[in-house]
Amino acid sequence: MKEEVIKLLKELEELDAEERKKGIPIELRMRNITPDVGLFLNILIKATKAKNILEIGTSNGYSTIWLGLAAKENNGQVVTLEVDPRKINMARANLERAGLSDVVLIIEGDAKETIKILDKKFDFVFIDAEKEDYKTYFDLIFPKLQVGGLIVADNVVSHAEQLKSYVEHVRSNPKTQSVLLPIGRGEEVTLKIRE
Ligand SMILES: C[S@@+](CC[C@H](N)C(=O)[O-])C[C@H]1O[C@@H](n2cnc3c(N)ncnc32)[C@H](O)[C@@H]1O
Repeated sequence: MKEEVIKLLKELEELDAEERKKGIPIELRMRNITPDVGLFLNILIKATKAKNILEIGTSNGYSTIWLGLAAKENNGQVVTLEVDPRKINMARANLERAGLSDVVLIIEGDAKETIKILDKKFDFVFIDAEKEDYKTYFDLIFPKLQVGGLIVADNVVSHAEQLKSYVEHVRSNPKTQSVLLPIGRGEEVTLKIRE
């Protein structure tokens, strides 16, 4: 990884830690994934050679950088969905600094609506928006996921009670295999095994 990108990721990690320490209200904070989860997603995308990647919940683009770096190596693309224009501006600037503007497409709006206009199949999906919407996102994106594709959902340990029904939902689907990885805030990794 280039020195400038390592520096940028560090800066964003410090910003996120500072915001959490100061107790800034949740809707204003960046709420980034932890660095180990960023690296895990990056490794998973490279190992599976995923090219079409979707992220739900961009924030300031911290996780998007990890996804974008892997997509670039795979000659792929990341589509990322975000509703907050202020965070989109920050993400654009961060992705530009990371040299990923041509790899990432940011779509502004409510993801529950913008998902519906996506007209391609994805190999890899990362869900990291509001917990009450996870099941809706899963149901909207599952038909657009390739067989052999993965859906990773964040916060399954940190918000275990809120996401209990999501976990039950994905695990009871006969077309999936799903497992919890207890890294970061807890990642539920779901594989689509058949159409
Ligand atoms: C936990 S943060 C994402 C953090 C980001 N993935 C990272 O690790 O850098 C959740 C984001 O989802 C966005 N969001 C929440 N509901 C949304 C919706 N319905 N459509 C699009 N974005 C949404 C929020 O504005 C917020 O930026």
